[in-house]
Amino acid sequence: MIELRNCEKRFGAHTVLNGINLRFDAGSVTAVLGPNGSGKTTLMKTILGLVRPDKGEVLMDGKPVIGKNIQQTAQYRNAIGYMPQIARFQDNLTARELIAMIRDLRESTAGTREEELCERFNLTEHIDKSLKNLSGGTRQKVNAVLAFMFSPQILMLDEPTAGLDPISASIFKDLVLAERESGRTILLTSHIMSEVHELADTIVFLLEGNVYFQGTPSELLAKAGESTLERAIARLLSNSAPTISASV
Ligand SMILES: Nc1ncnc2c1ncn2[C@@H]1O[C@H](COP(=O)(O)OP(=O)(O)OP(=O)(O)O)[C@@H](O)[C@H]1O
Ligand SMILES: [Mg+2]
Repeated sequence: MIELRNCEKRFGAHTVLNGINLRFDAGSVTAVLGPNGSGKTTLMKTILGLVRPDKGEVLMDGKPVIGKNIQQTAQYRNAIGYMPQIARFQDNLTARELIAMIRDLRESTAGTREEELCERFNLTEHIDKSLKNLSGGTRQKVNAVLAFMFSPQILMLDEPTAGLDPISASIFKDLVLAERESGRTILLTSHIMSEVHELADTIVFLLEGNVYFQGTPSELLAKAGESTLERAIARLLSNSAPTISASV
């Protein structure tokens, strides 16, 4: 279980996260939604320890994740698979070399799933091509292999299906649902509402630094009186109430 307690993050005068309190449970998918620039990526990076909050803390199973105990911090990072929104690879490597490099960097001796994942995503024919010569969607699949290959307990997926064709997106969604069944804690962001509806147990909607809505997709639809998430969110945004929570 991951918890954010009163997390605040400012960039200069701009408060991106304004005292966020959230909990993410094992065996569930949380979709973090919000307009461009609302802090979704910042929230994920805060959980990862790539962004340090100005106030508040991130806890895993009740313990602060970034602390003086370097071993504990390393253990926490090893428990996470991350698909960044913009993945920057060493472009002159081949996909095979990159995957091997990441595998070697991990101290873990546990088995990895890269072969199975490459087959699933039909990456085998591209595996010996230079990353710079791969199409955007194919690079995104390599990115997915890197995030899932160690079977991490926590998956942080920042717009993971951006650029994927419908077949690959379906393969990806099946993978996410299987990981949820295995008890993983999964956070994802997406601007594709049909995908959110299919995958998310909980929606967290960020707006102007705050959690503007938190609840299930059905609760969001019921609250807005709409039949699609897209319309429900549009209605939510046109509503003047500062905070709407399905749980109250
Ligand atoms: N390192 C940084 N330095 C300064 N400002 C930053 C930095 N990282 C993010 N920001 C700002 O924080 C705000 C939130 O950015 P973030 O990337 O978290 O948004 P997002 O919700 O992920 O948006 P998108 O839907 O476009 O991916 C934006 O105004 C962005 O410009
Ligand atoms: Mg983002």
